Amino acid sequence: MTTAVQPGFDPFDPDHRADPFPAYRELLERAPVWWNDKFGEWVLSRYADCEAVLRDPRWSSNPEHLTSRVELGAMDLRSTMRDLDTGILLFLDPPDHTRLRRLVSQAFTPRSIERLRPRIQELVDGILDELAGEREVDLMPTLAYPLPVIVICQLLGVPAEDRALFGPWSSDASRLLDGEVDLETANRGVVAVMQLINYLNGLIEERRRRPRDDLLSALITAEEEGDKLTESDLRAVVVLLFIAGHETTMNLIGNGILALLRHPDQLARLRDDPGLDASAVEELLRYDGPVHFTARIATEDLEVGGHHVPKGHQVVALLAAANRDPARFEDPDGLDLARADNRHLTFSGGMHYCLGAALARVEGQVVLGSLVRRFPGLALADPHPPYRDHVVLRGLQELRLSLA
Ligand code: HEM
Repeated sequence: MTTAVQPGFDPFDPDHRADPFPAYRELLERAPVWWNDKFGEWVLSRYADCEAVLRDPRWSSNPEHLTSRVELGAMDLRSTMRDLDTGILLFLDPPDHTRLRRLVSQAFTPRSIERLRPRIQELVDGILDELAGEREVDLMPTLAYPLPVIVICQLLGVPAEDRALFGPWSSDASRLLDGEVDLETANRGVVAVMQLINYLNGLIEERRRRPRDDLLSALITAEEEGDKLTESDLRAVVVLLFIAGHETTMNLIGNGILALLRHPDQLARLRDDPGLDASAVEELLRYDGPVHFTARIATEDLEVGGHHVPKGHQVVALLAAANRDPARFEDPDGLDLARADNRHLTFSGGMHYCLGAALARVEGQVVLGSLVRRFPGLALADPHPPYRDHVVLRGLQELRLSLA
């Protein structure tokens, strides 16, 4: 067991929220496989260790394998879905995961996502037109927060007049992914999931009767070797698309713009060269990604980074630390929008690799490129914007910008 950092050291301490990277660096240098006594789990910060765990199916995503630690907040989401007779992709292992993922991937293809690019551009241009009259704006409620919800609603085929319902539902429900949450937050999340499901039941019924050219109809008809998504599979998938795709993309936009504004040379590079949009988004995902960690549980006695992990114990893969591992990335704390060989772990790895990565990339590319080119005088109105309480999904509470 590694004990090479100060007793009481806690990389998840709220005091580290604004800048967790020095704490991650300390782990990388002094305790890359660290025993977190508070939660009874192992914390991995090296890229090679995180990647090895994510790619090895002997490490489970299903919290039912846990025997060693306090229950995760994420269990609330899982148990809510289980009560509703629904398994959620993120917490499933093969063969259930393989079956569900195959069916969903059939409808949610990179090609169908790329087709959305002009619509996303139109949407972003419309929002930027509205902002253009302002001297100062908070980017989070005006663009970063609503955009992913509008996009997923359009993609699924939710009628425009119902869209306003979805923002609060998906925001409250996504807190259930966030490890430790208090009871009130968990309850709000559970209620939001129920409301979402209730609404979706009606929409699914409607699309069954009259299919359209949208993702929901495609999911209903997706079929492989005679297998189809059941009613509860469908509900679980759609709920997850809302939860997993909302605050993550919102934080990509917020964290990304903040990093650019703190690196004026890189911002100027992006403004002058639209050819950099795609690699800029990859670098911003690596440099300050929205998802800081994920967890796996040993289904048998296993080894990682030279340490023995008994069956039933949990490891936390600190993706954001791995993305700054000097053994994997040259000048890991530097921001280089043209970085080559940038296989970051922000979308995880292995079988649970983010299903929405293509969508998040398109949204990120359109927003960041459009914003910096539309407003060449873009500047931080508050040099130290406040962070939200979220731990897994790290992002800004507000991001006030002056546009002039
Ligand atoms: C920048 C934005 C995003 C980030 C950083 C992100 C990150 C992640 C990560 C780290 C995982 C895997 C967790 C694990 O291995 O335990 C994941 C899974 C997933 N994500 Fe994303 N995500 C983003 C956006 C989206 C979007 C836009 C959608 C869909 C609308 C989405 C849908 C999903 C789904 C369905 C899974 C589960 C895949 C599976 O378990 O097989 N994500 N995401």
